[in-house]
Amino acid sequence: MMDVNSLQNIRREAPNILITGTPGVGKSSLCKQLSEITGLQWLEISRIAKEYNCLEDYDAVYQCPVLDEDKLMDGLEETMCRGGNIVDYHSCEFFPERWFDAVFVLTTDNTTLYDRLTNRGYTGKKLEDNIQCEIFHVILEEAKNSYKEHVVFELSNTVPEDLQENINKICLWLQQWFQKQNC
Ligand SMILES: Nc1ncnc2c1ncn2[C@@H]1O[C@H](COP(=O)(O)OP(=O)(O)OP(=O)(O)O)[C@@H](O)[C@H]1O
Ligand SMILES: [Mg+2]
Repeated sequence: MMDVNSLQNIRREAPNILITGTPGVGKSSLCKQLSEITGLQWLEISRIAKEYNCLEDYDAVYQCPVLDEDKLMDGLEETMCRGGNIVDYHSCEFFPERWFDAVFVLTTDNTTLYDRLTNRGYTGKKLEDNIQCEIFHVILEEAKNSYKEHVVFELSNTVPEDLQENINKICLWLQQWFQKQNC
């Protein structure tokens, strides 16, 4: 494995983008399609964390395991330095800022999100906290506080047509990124 300094000096042939937002806004649905269209690698953090053994303990209130963020970051460093990744996660502040060329925050109408999460079987505090998270734009604010303003984009994702439109917008951004590299 290369050392971190050499890795960070690699010129990326393709960008890394982050797709973030409250659970249930449609990140994975979008990433799956986007990855198929663009050939960029979809990194679904909740799945990768399991593969890398980065899940510890268990949060009884949220009924989910706790993520060992440092171990995950170490495991992903080389892949991210090489570029060409679509990272999919419901939080965005603990990733190194330098990893991402763009951060897309998906948002959903609150009642639609409520229906999606109850359909999944979410109840009680887990359901309420996720709805509050969306009402107060927590992830959008987190993204704005963690990344430069010009790399953060909000994409509304409530109805099926939004999904296609959002994929088109991201593809357009990608095209522009590749054009800039060739200038
Ligand atoms: N644009 C859309 N219109 C209608 N339904 C959608 C749209 N995008 C996603 N969905 C639906 O919303 C549900 C949640 O989507 P998905 O699993 O992709 O969310 P997620 O953001 O990845 O959630 P998590 O953070 O928990 O992984 C799914 O049932 C999916 O089919
Ligand atoms: Mg998902």
